[in-house]
Amino acid sequence: MQLIIDSANINSINKLIEFFPIDGVTTNPSIIVKEQKPFLPLLKEIRSVIGEERELFVQVIAKNANEMVEEAKFICEALSGNVVVKVPVTMEGIKAIKQLKSEGIRTLATTIYTPINAYLAAKAGAEYVAPYVNRIDNLTGDGAKVVTEIIEIFSRHHLSCKVLAASFKNVQQIHNVSLAGAHGITAAPELIEALVEHPSIKENVEKFRKDWFNQYGNESLFLNITR
Ligand code: G3P
Repeated sequence: MQLIIDSANINSINKLIEFFPIDGVTTNPSIIVKEQKPFLPLLKEIRSVIGEERELFVQVIAKNANEMVEEAKFICEALSGNVVVKVPVTMEGIKAIKQLKSEGIRTLATTIYTPINAYLAAKAGAEYVAPYVNRIDNLTGDGAKVVTEIIEIFSRHHLSCKVLAASFKNVQQIHNVSLAGAHGITAAPELIEALVEHPSIKENVEKFRKDWFNQYGNESLFLNITR
């Protein structure tokens, strides 16, 4: 399962790349403008931090298919490395995804709320679909169930599209979509850090160290024990 950062904050991306097995970065217009930096230099800075191999997802802003296609081509020409263009799953977006597929440009269909949204995007040629788990939950839906059903539809109809689940507000939601078989999750930096936090982990580590130092003396790590 891919682990992807849903942020354009350079400091956060740098830190998470150092500690976690990160596969890429997703952005959207709201995430970009939050950094209050020029659009293209920011994306190029992200590219320089994550390297050429990790995937960088960038969303179009246009509403009609032809302009979406032009924006997608601009993004792919401007950025090096693995780029995936995010396209909202509107009628115009589906048309743009079909066109971009025919021109060999990789797409992720975003703003996915139902399994049928995902089916249409996959059939149009999207490489990824991004169901908005928390937003679905907030509409009294079941985000994890939508992921399960998308995967079921893709399997039954032999659609090779991948589910990159997005929009999370807690670890439980990530747990649930992981069990549902999502091919990847993209989450905000603070939530990715929360994946490894648990009060018992810190407590257990401190107990192990206390027992060890009681026996071998303080600061006696493996490297300098002679006994
Ligand atoms: O790109 C979609 C994702 O960033 C939405 O997340 O937390 O705004 O629902 P959120």
